[in-house]
Amino acid sequence: EDDLASKLPLRGKKVLITAGPTYEAIDPVRFIGNHSSGKMGFDIANEAANKGAEVILVSGPTHLNVKNSSIQLVRVTSAEEMYNACHKYYDNVDVAIAAAAVADYRPKNVANQKIKKNEVTFTIELEKTKDILASLGAIKKKQFLIGFALETENEIEHAKQKIQKKNLDLIVLNSLNDKGAGFGQPTNKVTFISKDFTIEPKELKSKEEVAQDIINKIIQFYNA
Ligand code: CTP
Ligand code: CA
Repeated sequence: EDDLASKLPLRGKKVLITAGPTYEAIDPVRFIGNHSSGKMGFDIANEAANKGAEVILVSGPTHLNVKNSSIQLVRVTSAEEMYNACHKYYDNVDVAIAAAAVADYRPKNVANQKIKKNEVTFTIELEKTKDILASLGAIKKKQFLIGFALETENEIEHAKQKIQKKNLDLIVLNSLNDKGAGFGQPTNKVTFISKDFTIEPKELKSKEEVAQDIINKIIQFYNA
């Protein structure tokens, strides 16, 4: 029994994870999206499942698949769909991790028919999407809530503001300052910042290793 607890420290825990990009429709054949591969979120899902957790992985469009039967994959397309899926499961989870690159804006009006190239210049009016992570923070009860932050200036200060604004327990700050970090790259340079503003810079490492560090942080929280 003790042996099982040390091998599967997240046994009995439910973990909600968001991953991938979102696609925001312009018309029936076009969308606004981003280059997120979804790998970070899928790696976190695998690591959580390996440590015994039951995982709900809400993912935007990606080519990735899950192998572990402890991971329930919920595929969504838009930020609105991701928001709805997250709120469907959030009440029953112990941990939520927002690794998705959610579009901040979407077309205000979606054309019913394919837009014809009639105009010389063409403008799309955008409106804000819902902030999924902030909405989870606002109704947080027992959940240990983890967000990501991508910043290019005043990184630490901006990340701290996100902790407070979204009521997070931990934020994973992604740096673009090092070559080899970010979208489409196998490695990430991250800094962990806790809600008490403890700062832990990590080495440049693979996304699998970053996922392990994040899951270890959760295990530490439950063992403290
Ligand atoms: N996030 C979310 N829903 C959104 C936008 C962001 O859940 N509509 C989450 C991301 O998954 C990430 C965190 O919020 O965990 C921070 O995302 P980021 O883009 O760094 O920050 P924003 O709050 O969107 O602010 P900005 O892009 O202006 O820096
Ligand atoms: Ca954003």
